[in-house]
Amino acid sequence: MIDTSMYQYMIQNPKLKYIFFGGKGGVGKTVMAGTAALWAAQSGKKTLLASTNPVHSLSSLLGQDVFGKPTMVKGFPNLTAYEIDTHDTIEKSKNEIREKIAWFLKFADIKTKADEFVESATMNPAFEESAMFENMIDLMFDDEYEVYVFDTAPTANARRLLGMSSVYEMWVNKMVQSREEAASLKDLLSYSKKKKEKDPLMGYLLNLRERMHNAKELLTDDSLTSFFFVTLPEALPIAVITRFIGWFKEFNIPVGGVIVNMLIDKDSVKQDTPDFVKNRVAMQEEHMQTIWNEFDGQVRAILPLLETEVCDTAMLKRMADLLFAEN
Ligand SMILES: Nc1ncnc2c1ncn2[C@@H]1O[C@H](COP(=O)(O)OP(=O)(O)O)[C@@H](O)[C@H]1O
Ligand SMILES: [Mg+2]
Repeated sequence: MIDTSMYQYMIQNPKLKYIFFGGKGGVGKTVMAGTAALWAAQSGKKTLLASTNPVHSLSSLLGQDVFGKPTMVKGFPNLTAYEIDTHDTIEKSKNEIREKIAWFLKFADIKTKADEFVESATMNPAFEESAMFENMIDLMFDDEYEVYVFDTAPTANARRLLGMSSVYEMWVNKMVQSREEAASLKDLLSYSKKKKEKDPLMGYLLNLRERMHNAKELLTDDSLTSFFFVTLPEALPIAVITRFIGWFKEFNIPVGGVIVNMLIDKDSVKQDTPDFVKNRVAMQEEHMQTIWNEFDGQVRAILPLLETEVCDTAMLKRMADLLFAEN
């Protein structure tokens, strides 16, 4: 039995501002993000629905082009949607890194072209994720909305993104420390009274450290942030969120609960219902048992498999009535 529904959870957490949905591909994360954003907007909050997923699906879900810039969603005055141009972000990050590296090479009097370093620094998947993370926290720090719902990439799991903020902080601390040591050594050895050279890298590192620290503060505050995990009553999606929830708890990232999606209505099964449907219903029933065992007290909603895909705002409204049902 559900003891705290999604609706009750929202009532109990009135300051909730950053909402995320995680889970295996295809379980309904994008639909849930759209549904939650629409519900928040309809309950009077200025809401941003943002996708940092390189494969976007908000435009088709909303039936409106929201790529590249925050766009008001037609018919919902409080709702803005935004598919971030990941290609653009990555290019910007690359340029930023190119500048830093060029500066450093000049500083250290190394005559190698920066490009080779830039390629090796940016040719890995973590770089892309890190750029997406920057995008996300930029939006959060701009603080233009009362509620943010993020549609995150299924593979770029959010735990790594947040884990990264700890790693970043450690790394930046180390860098700052060794640069301070180097600077004081330089002072000690310097006979000239020449004014100290300004160190642009230091400024950058301090700024990065502060941003990471602030992001972590927001993302680990359970009155502000919640990650909800979406699953189907099937073995693999359950295994995926079990693992995620374990990781998140380890990192003190607030877990809002579990949403079970696409449960087939048992009452629709009749004598003449084809066997494959009957079998599927029986299978789902078994997996529901696992869900109750594994996520007792954390299940926030159980949503039915609808007749069609969820592909417009009318269907999202219908989903919102189900996801945030008041009883
Ligand atoms: N309760 C549901 N009933 C019917 N179709 C659904 C339901 N939830 C999601 N869908 C459909 O399932 C597909 C996958 O959903 P999506 O939100 O894109 O998953 P994800 O973002 O996790 O990959 C979409 O076509 C969506 O419209
Ligand atoms: Mg999706």
